[in-house]
Amino acid sequence: MKQQGKIIGSVDDLTDGEAERLFFAARTKNLGDIAYPKPAVLMTAFFEPSTRTRLSFEMAAHRLGIRVLNFNAESSSLEKGESYGDTLLNLLSLKPDVLVVRSSFPFYVPSCHDEGTSIINGGDGVNEHPTQALTDCFTLLNHWQTDNLRNKKILIVGDIAHSRVARSNIKLLNRFGASVYMLAPKNYSIESNFASNINSFGDIDGSIDAVMCLRLQKERILKGHALANEEYIDSYSLTLERFLSLGEHCVVLHPGPINLGVEIEDAVKNHSRSLILEQVKHGVSVRAALILHCINGGIFA
Ligand code: CP
Repeated sequence: MKQQGKIIGSVDDLTDGEAERLFFAARTKNLGDIAYPKPAVLMTAFFEPSTRTRLSFEMAAHRLGIRVLNFNAESSSLEKGESYGDTLLNLLSLKPDVLVVRSSFPFYVPSCHDEGTSIINGGDGVNEHPTQALTDCFTLLNHWQTDNLRNKKILIVGDIAHSRVARSNIKLLNRFGASVYMLAPKNYSIESNFASNINSFGDIDGSIDAVMCLRLQKERILKGHALANEEYIDSYSLTLERFLSLGEHCVVLHPGPINLGVEIEDAVKNHSRSLILEQVKHGVSVRAALILHCINGGIFA
């Protein structure tokens, strides 16, 4: 016989006996913290918009048979004035196995967080976007069917100063042995121990193996520092002509979302040597591997 559903709209909908039995069960069966085996839960908490990162984490979790809880900032108590920090503490108190956080604030792990919960940075301000860099690095390794990037020249073009994708990639690509070059307008450039600055496409010596375009992070560029689109296009847009000049085997990446016609021409985005949708596809496998790494010792146990 089908179980009759219950309507609990008020404390009046539970008898004293039901309330007492409920407290007894919660206390003795430790229902808030069921011991293993239990289905793992991944929670996504995105305080900034996302298409690829959030959905690829969710897709990865679904593929692994892990349950997903999605925190929706717009419909959350942030709207009632709750702070970011308090929101994070409350989400952690729900004890997901994995919490993926994207925000404009620096990534941090509250000291009171439960040791059983893994927290993954889904992009924090201008600082880091580790899973995008892992995805990009994996995409290149997979494309070249190799396990390192030694002797590979990789050019990162665009708004490097405001790009968390660039900061994570510069470190990771360098660690895998690549020579990394940066081409950016003055207001959008950085100095790095792991990459060399070049001034223009015309200054590139020899061929490049991969070029990575970045999104112009308009939401993070200070007023008065933004370059007009026309100026950007003139010197930094990856046109088909510039792309072809980089070498006959050069591949192109872009983490998305793309400002088409500004950062990259349509003909380059759709070129046979474009790996842009490969990046999205590989984002699922790389994030699935990272989830397994985080829960239960995962694939590396
Ligand atoms: N690359 C990236 O972070 O894309 P989303 O902002 O859509 O997640």
